[in-house]
Amino acid sequence: MKNSSQQLIPRFNAVERAIHWAVAITFVYATLSGLSLWSRKLYWIAGVLGGGVTVRAMHPLISVLFVLAFGRLFLKWRREMVLDADDRTWLRYSYKYALKDDAGLPEVGKYNGGQKMQFWAQAALAVVLLCSGTVLWFPEYMPRTLRLAAVLIHPAAALAAMGGIIVHVYMGTAAVPGSLKAMIRGVVTRRWAAAHHPKWLRNLPQP
Ligand code: HEM
Repeated sequence: MKNSSQQLIPRFNAVERAIHWAVAITFVYATLSGLSLWSRKLYWIAGVLGGGVTVRAMHPLISVLFVLAFGRLFLKWRREMVLDADDRTWLRYSYKYALKDDAGLPEVGKYNGGQKMQFWAQAALAVVLLCSGTVLWFPEYMPRTLRLAAVLIHPAAALAAMGGIIVHVYMGTAAVPGSLKAMIRGVVTRRWAAAHHPKWLRNLPQP
């Protein structure tokens, strides 16, 4: 029999994982194609993705798919992502988490305060990207001021979203070993849950 700390616990079901990876794949395409359209120095990326004409046509379409997939994830997870008093305290002292000194930090539930903030930030940025991107997609129907604003806001929001996702990917892979298994196979070990999400583990229905 398996040592109890190695016992596997379900964390994400197949639907959650499928939607998450649809979000991730469409986000990566939207990011790379967007970067190639944004800067001459990055235009070579368009070559890798099938050429400038293809990228210009596909960037808005795949980006809309990203927003739809994220919207589905948002509807599934929005209740679990509401911040409680413990999350707010955790966020106030999150520098301790970054310094790997968890002593005195409140116990973490299914997600920590940082994960929850990332969720809300990406949701807000997705709305900004959709609105500003629509202006850039149909410029002939938009007033000049709106076009000028969109030219500034769209890349700024995209860069902010990319920054957040770089941190997210680092946390989900190298920084917290065992996390990726949750998003690939749907399970984590009891030891992982006890170390990173003890309040969640304690409140899980007992088998
Ligand atoms: C591109 C590569 C990506 C990788 C490798 C990745 C990895 C992961 C992993 C391992 C988890 C589970 C964390 C846990 O169990 O606590 C997770 C959760 C999550 N992912 Fe991703 N992800 C990626 C892209 C994205 C993108 C593009 C978004 C949204 C724009 C996103 C949004 C989320 C959210 C909201 C969660 C739940 C809360 C959290 O863990 O932050 N992910 N991801």
